[in-house]
Amino acid sequence: MTRLLHVTGPDDPAILEAAAVLALGGLVAFPTETVYGLGADGLNPEAVARIYAAKGRPVTNPVILHVADVAAARGLVSHWPAEAQVLAERFWPGPLTLVLPASDRVPSIVRAGGPSVALRCPDHPVALALIRAAGRPLAAPSANRSQHLSPTLAQHVASSLGEVVDLILDAGPTEAGLESTILDLTGNRPRILRPGPLGPRELAALVGPVDLWEGAVKTGEVQAAPGMALRHYAPRARLELVAPGTGVRAVSGAVAYVGLGSLPTLPEGVRGILLPLDAEVVGARLYALLHELDDAGFERIFMERPPEGEAWLAVRDRLQRASAKEQP
Ligand code: TXA
Ligand code: MG
Repeated sequence: MTRLLHVTGPDDPAILEAAAVLALGGLVAFPTETVYGLGADGLNPEAVARIYAAKGRPVTNPVILHVADVAAARGLVSHWPAEAQVLAERFWPGPLTLVLPASDRVPSIVRAGGPSVALRCPDHPVALALIRAAGRPLAAPSANRSQHLSPTLAQHVASSLGEVVDLILDAGPTEAGLESTILDLTGNRPRILRPGPLGPRELAALVGPVDLWEGAVKTGEVQAAPGMALRHYAPRARLELVAPGTGVRAVSGAVAYVGLGSLPTLPEGVRGILLPLDAEVVGARLYALLHELDDAGFERIFMERPPEGEAWLAVRDRLQRASAKEQP
């Protein structure tokens, strides 16, 4: 059985215990402001290899290094561009991951053999205290099996990765609920590889025009962020997106219908769930809701398609992936 420790704040002794596990090359799941991460010493290739094994993650998919401040980030790159400085000053700690040219301190396995490294400074007191206590950058993907839903509760980690994590730090539900925005700063123009809580407009206000990489939604295209496979972040239940107000015809089996802003009349036996027409609230609730419906044995989930527009970009992205058909 994995050990799960409740953490009340950055001074909790559980954090020192977790740092000791990391120093021995172990795996510690910890909360961030986005989702729970599966952490290991980011400078220890064997420890990072355990992350890949635990998640069943392809070794072609690099992991993010989590740092406590800009100084630590600068020590991991060969070049720290002006854009990185401006963005980090404004948005770190926060849900922004920067892809930059890696220094040779970064183990190859962290980069999946590539030339760049993804860096992020999480806005969570427990995560920051753990990174400081470890005294190293922490490699941490989301603490779920590869391609499955990300965890927003410690219980999600326990049920997805239970036996293979040495320690889980439980600090309650995560706030943002969707993974960080990933911004690639290695090209001519900043480019969003994964939409997230920080939108293009907020980033562009500081660094000028930002491209949005949409290759992942076209199957077969070479992947800029190797983890951005079309089907990803997926529940066990079959998820279908429908136009608002569509409702469902009588269907058999355990079926849920998620309305945004209002619920149409539903046939008997269909569980209706109402979410507000508010992108932040839906983002924060989405994974927990899908986890709950999976745990309750729902086989099909119909969810109303969110509106167009930048506010909903990250939610639309995750829903598109969660509802994509299994790739052969
Ligand atoms: O909010 C988050 O970012 C969470 C928390 C735990 O920090 N982490 C997270 O990690 O979502 P993960 O591994 O589930 O997703 C990281 C994504 C993957 O799609 C990966 O391919 C991409 O970041 N990535 C990592 N390093 C990269 C690099 N050097 N270049 C391009 N993409 C990279
Ligand atoms: Mg993930």
